[in-house]
Parts: sequence; structure tokens; C-alpha cells
Amino acid sequence: MKLLVLNGPNLNRLGAREPGIYGDRDYDALCRFIEAQAAALDAVADIRQSNLEGELVTLIQQAQDVYDGIVLNAAAYTHTSVALRDAIASVTVPVVEVHLTNVYAREEFRHRSLIAAVCVGQIAGFGFDSYALGMRALLARKSG
Ligand code: DQA
Repeated sequence: MKLLVLNGPNLNRLGAREPGIYGDRDYDALCRFIEAQAAALDAVADIRQSNLEGELVTLIQQAQDVYDGIVLNAAAYTHTSVALRDAIASVTVPVVEVHLTNVYAREEFRHRSLIAAVCVGQIAGFGFDSYALGMRALLARKSG
């Protein structure tokens, strides 16, 4: 199972960014965690991060016929991006939406996801474990 783990804007700032909300572990720690979890699941995870909406669109398009699934933390673009929604809808690769925080317990503008309807499911609020759960969901979906 080959997975793409795609991270959106400002996730590269983990550790320094609002530690009271996102914790003090940095982006490298997140990448190491994802790699270890993927290995434990017998999967391979390619991890990409971009602050640019168009770059995220291109990475989703390019995942077609290359990856078995995408774990996507679209970060702030979750709440604003029709382009990301359309990119997800344009591919047949299953996408799981993940968030570190419970977006429904935060500001109201974070309660709306423009991408949720075109994803196979959503996992939010479990910190780094949201990514592990997202990968597990894709594996379970494939083998089930
Ligand atoms: C986030 C939640 C988003 O609302 C926010 O814009 C982020 C991170 C999360 O992982 O909790 O950048 O996606």
C-alpha cells in the first residue's frame, strides 16, 4: 500500500506555531511519526507539505494511478478551497481528511469543511494519531 500524506499551509510551523493548540512537537517529529506508523502498517508513506494552494492541487492530481490513498491535512484550505475540493473530486484515489485538532470545538469558521463531502471520511482531534488513524482507515477500506 502506497500512501501520500499531504500537509497544507503552516503545518511546517508545528512546534513553534501556537503550541497551546498544536503542541510543542515540530514538523520533523510529525514526519518521523508518520513514517514509523506507516512501516508498522506495512505501508509506504510519501510525505509532502506545501503552503501553496495550487501546489496542493497539482500533488492531488499527480496522485492518480500512483498512490492507493491520500491522507490530507489541508489545514486552513479545508475551510476555503473550492480548488482543492475539485482536485479531490477529479481523482479516484480515496482521500481521508485529517486534522490535529478538533476543529468543531474551535472557531465557527473551522466548523465548515469544503472538502469533507468528496473525502471518504474525516478524522479530527487526535493530534499526531489522526494521521495514524487516517492511514489505518485507508488500509481497512482497501482490505475490507
Ligand atoms: C488544522 C485545523 C485548521 O483549522 C487549521 O487552519 C490548521 C490545522 C489541524 O490540523 O487541526 O492549520 O487542519
